Amino acid sequence: MEIIRTPAEMTAWANKALVAGERIGLVPTMGFFHEGHLSLMRRAGEKADRTVVSLFVNPIQFGANEDLGRYPRDFSRDCQLAQDQGVDVLFAPEPHDMYPPEASTRVVVSGLTEGLCGKSRPGHFAGVTTVVAKLFHIIKPHCAVFGRKDFQQLAVIERMVADLDWDVEIIGHPIVREPDGLAMSSRNVYLSASERRAALCLFRAIGHARRRVRTGPVEAPVLQQEVEELLLQEGVAIEYVSIVDHATLRPQAVLQKSAVLAMAIKVGATRLIDNDNLFDD
Ligand code: PAF
Repeated sequence: MEIIRTPAEMTAWANKALVAGERIGLVPTMGFFHEGHLSLMRRAGEKADRTVVSLFVNPIQFGANEDLGRYPRDFSRDCQLAQDQGVDVLFAPEPHDMYPPEASTRVVVSGLTEGLCGKSRPGHFAGVTTVVAKLFHIIKPHCAVFGRKDFQQLAVIERMVADLDWDVEIIGHPIVREPDGLAMSSRNVYLSASERRAALCLFRAIGHARRRVRTGPVEAPVLQQEVEELLLQEGVAIEYVSIVDHATLRPQAVLQKSAVLAMAIKVGATRLIDNDNLFDD
């Protein structure tokens, strides 16, 4: 596996691959890999001739009081794991190469970014779409794979790609969970043993909501309140519980097949998100 550090070298590599007629698959990440990331890499490997993984803790998607400084990192372990998945290139640029001092452009998707996580993280999605747009320009992928755990992020990126007529196939990959149901996240390392147990309320809430929609009609506000009560029993702080359409992210009053239960909570100091397409098998 090749490790590439600068955007210019990355683009030179991509241009060669394109001239050779190869399909490039990209997995954008912020590193500290877990099985969720590795499954995205394998998916990209199935869809493309060459797989590029970007590893960049993107400073502009973190708010002032967020965890940029302590975001978990382990570069040598990440290199080994990516190599084991058959990744061709790990692109790991430095912040000053991605955002030189004179850079002053942001790519902003409006509407979809305003609710859910966008409410408590102003500027977050502009940071995400800006870095993803830059990665698409630098790496020129035919397809890019994103996890469905950040389902609002996925919807926002799909919108950006459609709005900008970008010829990149966006692939949403299912959430990968620990055996007890906790959605995998690099931030899970922040959890103490008792916080980790409390965090399982997210998966229990999903199980409850799934059972409710299967055993008879239930109104969205009723289900939402039941989920909130279940989460509060664990003593976690709720940021939001919402039942929304998976593409428009608009709240559903009457549950439709496109309903997604989306949740963000704080367990101690750690913010966790989870979601589920309630009517999927
Ligand atoms: O999902 C992430 O890890 C990040 O938001 C992404 C897409 C790599 C952009 O920095």
